[in-house]
Amino acid sequence: MACESYSVKSAFLLLLCFLLGTASAQLSSTFYSTSCPSALSTIKSGVSSAVSKEARMGASLLRLHFHDCFVNGCDASVLLDDNASTNFTGEKTAGPNNNSLRGFDVIDTIKSQLESACPGVVSCADLLTVAARDSVVALGGPSWTVPLGRRDSTTASLSAANSNIPAPTLSLSGLISAFSNKGFTAKEMVALSGSHTIGQARCTSFQTRLYNDNNINATFATSLKTTCPSSGGSNSLSPLDATSPTSFDNAYFKNLQIQKGLLHSDQELFNGGSTDAQVNTYSSNSATFMTDFANAMVKMGNLSPLTGSSGQIRKNCRKVN
Ligand code: HEM
Repeated sequence: MACESYSVKSAFLLLLCFLLGTASAQLSSTFYSTSCPSALSTIKSGVSSAVSKEARMGASLLRLHFHDCFVNGCDASVLLDDNASTNFTGEKTAGPNNNSLRGFDVIDTIKSQLESACPGVVSCADLLTVAARDSVVALGGPSWTVPLGRRDSTTASLSAANSNIPAPTLSLSGLISAFSNKGFTAKEMVALSGSHTIGQARCTSFQTRLYNDNNINATFATSLKTTCPSSGGSNSLSPLDATSPTSFDNAYFKNLQIQKGLLHSDQELFNGGSTDAQVNTYSSNSATFMTDFANAMVKMGNLSPLTGSSGQIRKNCRKVN
């Protein structure tokens, strides 16, 4: 009898855990269908208008989402401002982010529209995830369905931002392990790196490559050196994909094949190692790249979301409620 009641009780507990745990951890593409039916169209038009004012903004919004997700999950921690009066330090001054991340004002504008339409409903983390997708679409890339229901963090981690976001100085094995730490295969890492088919980098991010690497196309290097001298010039910008920096295409992989990767880490993907074949595939087959990229983006967006009653729906993406 004791045994029987024990098993009934544990079955009940198991069911409860399943319902609480699994159901709350589950994201759903229809999450805002009744609570905020205009959410997706509001984000899409906000992104379109920002990208039509400045095409690079699409790249900047995509990168914001990556830098959010790789640091303790997609919880909008990257959007929190430092606050001296509460002694709060966010992630914005971390090495990979400082003087580099952009797009915060675009997120603020869209968030205030979402708050007018549906106060307290749409999280900053979901906003960032959808904005990344809409940015890729606005620049001619693939589309995908975004699972929704992420909530926003009340904390951030400068140290995790410094240690989890891969540096442009990494070797191929360093890149593979940075992504494998987040559950990605080398193939997914190569697909996600295809993001560098849009956007710009500062001289400081590729200066060492420019003056030290020998796997760089000579003409390409000479032209970069005019705006990125061996010392100084840190903030001058060059396109990550010199061919078509505002089109989400597979030109990034074609550039790698002719040693025109801008970052050291980019060229590592095609430098006689284990990922050369994947670069060749994406270079010759754009559709395969687009599909693999879209799938890897969904996976990235699902990194440790806060769901259920964890976290909060911030009213202002820059600060906790
Ligand atoms: C594979 C490892 C990666 C490294 C080492 C890396 C590094 C960098 C660096 C150094 C920059 C230039 C920053 C600056 O100079 O201000 C940059 C730009 C960019 N990254 Fe990455 N990145 C990586 C992967 C990714 C991924 C996975 C995504 C998105 C899914 C991404 C999206 C972008 C975009 C779109 C830009 C241009 C941003 C703009 O123009 O504002 N990167 N990345």
